[in-house]
Amino acid sequence: MSTMKAILGLASVSGALALVAPRQDVRGTATVKVAEPSGTPEHWASGFIYGFPSNGDGSASDAIPSDLVEGMGFNYCRAGGAQMANALGWVAGQYEGRFMSALSNYRTTREYGGRFTLLMHDLWGADGKQGDGIKWPGDNGDWTEYDSFLDTVFGDLKANDALDGLDIDIWNEPDISGFWDTTQEQYLATWNRTWHRIREELPGTVITGPSTAFTPASDNGWWVNFMAYVDQTNTIPDQWSWHLIGSAANVRQSTAGLNYFVDQYGFPELPIVMNEYGKQNGEQNPAGAVYFIGQLERANTAGLRSNWASGAELQDLMANLVVKQDDGTYLPTGEWFVYSYYAETMTGQRVATTASADEIFEVYATRENGKLKILASVRPNASTGRYDLTLTGLDALGVQGDSITVRTLRFDGPDAYTVGSAPTDMGVWDHPVQDNSVTFWVEPQVNTAAYAFEI
Ligand SMILES: *[C@@H]1O[C@H](CO)[C@@H](O)[C@H](O)[C@H]1NC(C)=O
Ligand SMILES: *[C@@H]1O[C@H](CO)[C@@H](O)[C@H](O)[C@H]1NC(C)=O
Repeated sequence: MSTMKAILGLASVSGALALVAPRQDVRGTATVKVAEPSGTPEHWASGFIYGFPSNGDGSASDAIPSDLVEGMGFNYCRAGGAQMANALGWVAGQYEGRFMSALSNYRTTREYGGRFTLLMHDLWGADGKQGDGIKWPGDNGDWTEYDSFLDTVFGDLKANDALDGLDIDIWNEPDISGFWDTTQEQYLATWNRTWHRIREELPGTVITGPSTAFTPASDNGWWVNFMAYVDQTNTIPDQWSWHLIGSAANVRQSTAGLNYFVDQYGFPELPIVMNEYGKQNGEQNPAGAVYFIGQLERANTAGLRSNWASGAELQDLMANLVVKQDDGTYLPTGEWFVYSYYAETMTGQRVATTASADEIFEVYATRENGKLKILASVRPNASTGRYDLTLTGLDALGVQGDSITVRTLRFDGPDAYTVGSAPTDMGVWDHPVQDNSVTFWVEPQVNTAAYAFEI
């Protein structure tokens, strides 16, 4: 077996080898239900926050080559001019530069056909770097300043024709003091006030929220208060949003957490957007991309990669999917190649999948013209180990005979800062077909690597 692993490199796959590999080594099984189509690919995971350079005059930026943007299937951005050295936001009397940055990002996004979420907290100047003692909306019950801020932002959005494809995120991470350093009560009043003004003055604009750092759960007191207030004031957003950054919860668990409240109050079923996913250190690598792609696709939930870069790098590098060379050239990371494979080669129809029972081994799969493509990885913070991958309903591919040939590709890339390369072709391996299905095992040698299997 060790010889086999050496031949195949990092993804070992077995048929007869299972005789050598004790069953207790297998931690679980993910499945791909080849005969169960689940809709056309919409690339739910192909968004990121900030990530585009901006132009001071608000025009679209072409600084990052379009093949890198289109190549990862880009379709969603979220920004608001954060962390600009000479534009600290409304409360510092420096709103203009932030608005122009956001407008430039909006226009860049729209050129690529994506949606854009506007971050009001950045325009206000509460981008996490604001320091102590800034004003917050509604301080001392006085809303004059905030109303005039909303007047200005809404007026500028209209004047610049920046409403198509726009979401407004009422406030980022209002559940942590880094972004909201006053009471929850004051936040709730801000939510209500802003919700009504958007509905009245910008009808058709999507309201996103509450974009919390912590995920919804019946035992999260912040969410308990928030959902009761939304019910009481009837201020339901158009999209529920929260963040999954190194979170203990995953897409399924946190969605179940939301649905606890949705059921409790009888709220309508609404789209969800995980508008920051993946921790920069540890979850932004090929395995992290596949882990989130598998989960977001299964839930039909949009996701935007998180971005913890600071200063100039925040508004650049597509949330660490590209690396900038000293001469200004942009090169893709290893993770970029996963998004590219996902967006550009996994066409046709999605097929249903399940993760392993421990939710650590993830898969995403598509089929087209009798060909099947699968992405698979382990959750990148988990120790690596062996999992089985079972493909059922193989006759839907027109498979005949008692074996199939699987080609394996490996995506490498240790982190978000290292230039990557196209996946390595690991060659093909035959597997016996039994009862219209096949099972082989996958054991990544490093937990940052991801694999594609092609049949
Ligand atoms: C919510 O906002 C509306 C519109 O401004 C207002 O009429 C209502 O009193 C507010 N509700 C609460 C609980 O503050
Ligand atoms: C992976 O991260 C999640 C969330 O922080 C945590 O619950 C889990 O224990 C981690 N697993 C390992 C093996 O570190």
